[in-house]
Amino acid sequence: MDVNVEQGSIEASGADTLIVNLFEGVTAPAGATGAVDNALGGAISDLIAGGDLKGKAGEVAVLYPRGAIPARRVLVVGLGKADSFDLEGVRRASAAGVKRARDLNARHVATIVHGAGFGGLDVAAAAQATVEGALLAAYRFDAPKKKEPANEIEALTIVEYDNRRVGAISAAARVAEAVAAGVALARDLVNMPPNVATPTRLAEAARTIAAAHGLGITVGDRAWAAERKMGAYLAVAQGAGEPPQFIILEHNVDRTDAPTVVLVGKGITFDTGGISIKPSERMGEMKSDMGGAAAVLGAMEAVGRLNLPLRVIAITPCTENMPDANAYRPADIITASNGKTIEIISTDAEGRMVLADALVHAAQYQPDAVIDLATLTGACVVALGSGVAAGIFCNDDGLRDRLLRAADATYERLWPLPLYDDYRRAIKSEVADMKNSGGRFGGVGTSAVFLKEFTDYPWAHLDIAGVALAEKSGDYTPVGGTGFGVRLLVDYLRGLAAGRQSK
Ligand code: BES
Ligand code: MN
Ligand code: ZN
Repeated sequence: MDVNVEQGSIEASGADTLIVNLFEGVTAPAGATGAVDNALGGAISDLIAGGDLKGKAGEVAVLYPRGAIPARRVLVVGLGKADSFDLEGVRRASAAGVKRARDLNARHVATIVHGAGFGGLDVAAAAQATVEGALLAAYRFDAPKKKEPANEIEALTIVEYDNRRVGAISAAARVAEAVAAGVALARDLVNMPPNVATPTRLAEAARTIAAAHGLGITVGDRAWAAERKMGAYLAVAQGAGEPPQFIILEHNVDRTDAPTVVLVGKGITFDTGGISIKPSERMGEMKSDMGGAAAVLGAMEAVGRLNLPLRVIAITPCTENMPDANAYRPADIITASNGKTIEIISTDAEGRMVLADALVHAAQYQPDAVIDLATLTGACVVALGSGVAAGIFCNDDGLRDRLLRAADATYERLWPLPLYDDYRRAIKSEVADMKNSGGRFGGVGTSAVFLKEFTDYPWAHLDIAGVALAEKSGDYTPVGGTGFGVRLLVDYLRGLAAGRQSK
């Protein structure tokens, strides 16, 4: 879907489909909705008066102008109550309108920015949310099976009457396009079957990003990791049939003057559990165990497109976790790249193993902040629910605050969880520096304090196990890979680039 911005009156647009909006309780529409209503001889007011249109969130009314204006159809999307309206309301309303337009086989859609008039939202933020809602809702994964050609909207025009707002809206639309491209990439990588989205395929995706935006790239193989004594990562990779790939993308790596952020993503392309094998029921969901890596790669796609004035490094340790004659096993003692030893209790606690060496590697960049994203524990899903929020563990109050602010703005929700020393006692080992599992209780906390052993910088760990893969569709999230984390990371990074914060 091409996105462009035009100054003008929406009722004069040459698009086949117009999208305007209505807050709940409004009986006499004003602004652009009022202008369309006038051009249609009061047709929208009639719907409201007759009780057919209330302006409730999620509601979409369809009107047919029949020559009164150039467009074939007008959609009025409900925005809900004005006093509780926010950017998430904008994304949902925009998504509802665009999905209906697509179902009606619209080709060229014109929309206003939702929420920047009566809604009182910042025009750039509202425009970004309008375009993001539209693009994210239009996302489809092209599964490799034959099917009928799907309806596709070719162009989306944002129409703004006020000339002074057009520049900000155009800039916001470009940001939204970059973000949506990152989310689509992350969703695609998660949605691909695990025999396709192999570590090698993830490395290929990283190479494509690097080539498109001039990023530095290193893809380390087994020998590369062995030279760096990445014993924890290699232990997991030992049983893998697919070659492991330790991927590093560097944006502005020479700009040591700029704030440095390292993004780390768990890249287990399929988690069988290894020798501590998982039950077969729903094991297929473990193709999403590279959701952290996918989010980090998606964020780098957006960072590259936006050419953010920051030094941003992505590290994604990728491998399968398989049972095999060569696989690591319970009772093995493994040495990570910082020299710490790990007693293996469960080979299914593999995420923390690959992250350990990635977090040690991150220190090389002397980062101002390191953020890892990982589908790390079932315990996090038990604690916070499926499709609700990711858990955040953070050793730095400022970093946590900034991430929580980004979570609030993007509705990629984070809920703070504690890094108590008590959890450290649960992974105390008699034979090594630590165990890789602390047992049944507090499983999310013990996984986080395990990771902490490999960090010595401001650090945030996001456990995205419950949010990387959706069982149910949302307003702008279809079933499957969600791309969770891309919008959050980009919002955080853009805030950093704008100088509102220091890490
Ligand atoms: N990839 C899983 C965690 C997971 C569970 C992600 C459900 C998404 C949905 C992880 O590698 C794992 O197996 N964790 C174990 C840890 C345990 C063995 C200490 C778990 O959560 O059971
Ligand atoms: Mn596992
Ligand atoms: Zn896993």
